[in-house]
Amino acid sequence: MNNGLENVVAAETVLSDVRGAEGQLIIRGHPLSALAGHWTFEQTAHLLFTGFFADLTDAAGLAAGLGMARVEVFERVRERIGAVAELPLYDAMRALTAMLPDGTALSDALRLLAAPAVLLPALIRLQAGDTAIAPAADAGHAADVIRMLGRSDGAAALDAYLVTVSDHGLNASTFAARVVASTQAGLTSSVLAGLGALKGPLHGGAPGPVIDMLDAIAAEGDSRGWIDRALDGGDRLMGFGHRVYRTRDPRADALKAALLSFGPVDARLRFAEDVERAALEGLRRRKPDRVIDTNVEFYTALLLEAVGFPKHGFTGVFAMGRVAGWLAHAREQALTGRLIRPASLYVEPPASRAA
Ligand code: COA
Repeated sequence: MNNGLENVVAAETVLSDVRGAEGQLIIRGHPLSALAGHWTFEQTAHLLFTGFFADLTDAAGLAAGLGMARVEVFERVRERIGAVAELPLYDAMRALTAMLPDGTALSDALRLLAAPAVLLPALIRLQAGDTAIAPAADAGHAADVIRMLGRSDGAAALDAYLVTVSDHGLNASTFAARVVASTQAGLTSSVLAGLGALKGPLHGGAPGPVIDMLDAIAAEGDSRGWIDRALDGGDRLMGFGHRVYRTRDPRADALKAALLSFGPVDARLRFAEDVERAALEGLRRRKPDRVIDTNVEFYTALLLEAVGFPKHGFTGVFAMGRVAGWLAHAREQALTGRLIRPASLYVEPPASRAA
């Protein structure tokens, strides 16, 4: 029995490979460094979808279909969005996603790919007392998200983020999506499973606390002192360490590059770099035998903050990128035709309790 299924190979995939020892992420044959900042989210989704939908054409065709899907999702939910706007942001997004048709065609996949991008900005604005902004079918996907958020800068940085998190091996939410797809349920069911798994703080819920940590350090004004105290007190520094990567998380560098090309965050970025240096020094001093390096969440937090998302929306933006991977994995799993159905180890109740 293996409680966390570590090292259990549960699927064969052409989609991505997480090379923990080398600090490499390969997405369908391409190292992440060749994709983030170079490819658009639409091109990356096309790369992931290839071979899984009979009527998929080229990346431009996917981009056009995705633009129309954003408009369709907005129209479908506009009457209902007020009814769920009182829910916590992520739960409201999940509730509206559940209202989409549950098929397995490319049109279903495009609606689901569009859904977080449309729903999250609309809900953020409604919850802040503003009106939702309708999507523009002919805009780039990331640019349209920025526009729907009511902002004008940061589309390239958001695009690089969405590409960076689009797929990452058999992580918990992707596995959940594949289990559901293996029953031959529709893609909405798989995406809802992915959304449920991503919500937890051990998976997609971590970047918000990075902002809390940075704010606490900024208020005190002494990175080294704050970090030494935290480590001496046995706290974990948010945005450092990883279960699989035994070196720097390659996604941290992809996101840092995206941030560096995004001017307005300069002072905040310099401060974060100082915190990062102090954290790495502190961790190396205390754990010389273990590589604890910067992970994806550190620069995710800075990037999403810079492009204008509130920190309670960070997990929803993660879903906006990862939904591409969920959809591709769901189709890949369904096409194997094999139901995922592991065994459990039954533990006999003690005789006294059974009696
Ligand atoms: N800050 C301080 N100490 C850390 C640390 C961190 N961020 N990450 C690991 N450590 C320490 C642990 O306290 C542990 O020390 P111990 O052996 O004295 O108990 C040691 O390093 C090994 O930790 P372990 O829990 O085995 O590492 P892991 O590889 O299983 O954990 C994480 C990975 C991500 C859970 C862990 O690094 C962590 O909690 N990071 C902070 C939260 C975070 O950024 N999450 C987002 C991940 S993408």
